[in-house]
Amino acid sequence: MTSAPKPAPRTSETATGAVPWWRHAVIYQVYPRSWADGNADGVGDLPGITRRLPYLRDLGVDAIWISPFYVSPMADAGYDVADYRQVDPVFGTLEDADALIATAHDLGLRVIVDLVPNHTSDQHEWFQEALVGGPGSPERERYMFREGAGDGSEPPNNWRSVFGGPAWTRVTEADGSPGQWYLHIFDVTQPDLNWERTEVREMFHDVLRFWLDRGVDGFRVDVAHGLVKEAGLPDVDHQPHLLESDSGHVRHPMWDQDGVHEVYRGWREVLDSYNPDGDPDADRILVAEAWVEPLERLADYTRADEMHQAFNFPFLECPWQADDLREVVTRSMEVAHDVGAPTTWVLSNHDVVRHASRLGLPVGRRRPNGIGLEDPQPNAVLGLRRARAATALMLALPGSAYLYQGEELGLPEHTALPDAVRQDPAWFRSEHTERGRDGCRIPMPWEAGATAYGFGDTWDTWLPQPEVYGALAADRQAGVDGSTLELYRALLRLRHDDHLGAGDLEWVEGYGEDTVALRVRGADGRAVVVLTHLGDQPLPLPLPEGAQVLVSTHPLVDDALPTDTTVWLRG
Ligand code: GLC
Repeated sequence: MTSAPKPAPRTSETATGAVPWWRHAVIYQVYPRSWADGNADGVGDLPGITRRLPYLRDLGVDAIWISPFYVSPMADAGYDVADYRQVDPVFGTLEDADALIATAHDLGLRVIVDLVPNHTSDQHEWFQEALVGGPGSPERERYMFREGAGDGSEPPNNWRSVFGGPAWTRVTEADGSPGQWYLHIFDVTQPDLNWERTEVREMFHDVLRFWLDRGVDGFRVDVAHGLVKEAGLPDVDHQPHLLESDSGHVRHPMWDQDGVHEVYRGWREVLDSYNPDGDPDADRILVAEAWVEPLERLADYTRADEMHQAFNFPFLECPWQADDLREVVTRSMEVAHDVGAPTTWVLSNHDVVRHASRLGLPVGRRRPNGIGLEDPQPNAVLGLRRARAATALMLALPGSAYLYQGEELGLPEHTALPDAVRQDPAWFRSEHTERGRDGCRIPMPWEAGATAYGFGDTWDTWLPQPEVYGALAADRQAGVDGSTLELYRALLRLRHDDHLGAGDLEWVEGYGEDTVALRVRGADGRAVVVLTHLGDQPLPLPLPEGAQVLVSTHPLVDDALPTDTTVWLRG
């Protein structure tokens, strides 16, 4: 780095007083492979992101979180890191990363990067050294190597990989003999690190500092609940599903062990040392990706001396039913309050079926891991309608909200992706029983009339775009009344101006069982009443005295709130 990184933006413009920025921020996830391609190789890159940042300032978000862009063989789209301190050439250079951070800060956007501590790539130099080092070597101790069961030819226990297949792979030792087994909760190319080792802990402290020194504002922590495994690695009776909270609240010995918290307390000290005066604008943050239940266990990750936030996956997984929504919002607020953390809200990310499609599936069924041509198809119209209503509910809620790229365009999942182009390891490891996550990772459409809808200068994109993305391109929606893009912009503007993220929520009675009705009083005292109507008949609306409709996700009909509509009222 040749010069000091540009400082993070000041939030004084938002006038939320001394509330630290992350307690109410809207954070937009950029999936770098699919955001914008600056060099016509069909894959998005860092210069592409930098060029499109003004769009995000205009959208009205506070920060971006960028999925991994480090050196990687891309066996799991970059979540298999071979060098934590270098940018993969497909994405650009370290200078490109510096330029991105500086430009974002100039535009008033903070930057959160992804940290993948549970496992490295098998191409990481540590794993290569572990293979050469052989059984008993200190190099092997950095990973989870074990002797096989029985005569050594059976895996050490019965754990299955989250992506399918066994969680153990046997190596061939230097002399050619079949050797030890190593644990990989995910793909065979993603060996789990041994977090009992001090040098593993120290390495990650260095990685944190490396990116903090470059000016990043925080880290999204991948598989935060997986680092420490139960001692003895006992067999299990039930196997984990892909990226789902542990159903039935049975704790799996590979997840959510108490020992993980000590790791995060150490990280918090590192981050806090970058803000010795406790300036609320200068906090660097940690956000946990932890598929943990119940919510109380999740809240443990956000105790005062640990992480700042954790993704609220129970909200994402909540069925489209009024009582379930009320319950998950109430419980989320309660448990976060108990540990003094802000709640977070999220509906989509790069691991789940986009909510514009997910909400068009029958209510109450298990969430599929990807949708293919032969699978039951979502109702696209219903899905988008519910998605808009769900987002309008989410963006009114106090706390911090996460958006996933393209949801502001109402992008659906690509449900007709040919199986031949699929890349998600889950598709292969599940022996083609789970389509996987490619359908939510399709390159963004920016301009309807341009090559690859403006994603880049080639149609040969790493995943093909469906035709429907053309009609949904950002330039088709900008300035168009009622478009999903303008809806997001309006919601974000109101949320920002009324400081709803730093506000208080109270439930409002009198609208019936099928309507989620609440009032959020923003930090400066102004209040918004939010009604999300899920009943199958329109809800007649005598508006509260003097109430004014600020935004509605679907036009009111004869003063009634139609099904699957959210309205924000001033009142
Ligand atoms: C996280 C990521 C996911 C990845 C997995 C393994 O869940 O969000 O994309 O496959 O970790 O790193």
